[in-house]
Amino acid sequence: MKFFIDTASLSEIDDARSLGVLDGVTTNPTLIAKEGKRDYSEFKDHIKRICQMIDGPVSAEVTTLKASEMIVEGEELAAIHKNVIVKCPLTLDGIKAIKYFSSQGIKTNATLVFSPSQALMAAKAGAAFVSAFVGRLDDTSSDGISLIEQIVQIFRNYDIETEILVDSVRNPIHIVQAALLGADAATMPLKVLEQLALHPLTATGLDQFVQDAKVIQRGVKH
Ligand code: E4P
Repeated sequence: MKFFIDTASLSEIDDARSLGVLDGVTTNPTLIAKEGKRDYSEFKDHIKRICQMIDGPVSAEVTTLKASEMIVEGEELAAIHKNVIVKCPLTLDGIKAIKYFSSQGIKTNATLVFSPSQALMAAKAGAAFVSAFVGRLDDTSSDGISLIEQIVQIFRNYDIETEILVDSVRNPIHIVQAALLGADAATMPLKVLEQLALHPLTATGLDQFVQDAKVIQRGVKH
């Protein structure tokens, strides 16, 4: 399973990268705005800096709504760096733009996907990734992980190559459940990435080992 970090913060990307298990980065307009990037050229510079930090896919989202505008914007984003993945919303216009990009060999990430039919449309249009939002579905009392289960099943039925990217991750259980189902990738906040490695029994076990190690060292005769 590929691990992406869902942030536009350079320091968070650096922290995640230092673990050595990071495969890529996803951003969206909300995350970019949080970093204070409101001007378009600042936004593009920021994406470039992210691409220089990590050798893997970096999703950069279009901010326009019409297919023709998304195409212009997406081509500009794709020109920033070879690892940029153009993120397009899964709307009718988004599908047209994704289809165009795939005909040009530009990789896309279909975002804001909340149903298996949307995922199927993204795959038909040639998206490289389909971003299924589990947490936001959970927030509406729907079962986000069952969306992943359905997409995995459909994509298996037809040997679809589009990668299933689990988005809107809120906790490590989302990751474990998605991994059990065979999702290709997950994007998560730094906190969740770190939580994946933590367990209270590891912490208490280590405390004990550290205490016992002191006793052993005291017993050593030189
Ligand atoms: C998708 O564009 C996002 O990057 C993201 O995973 C959404 O997560 P959220 O629901 O926590 O905002």
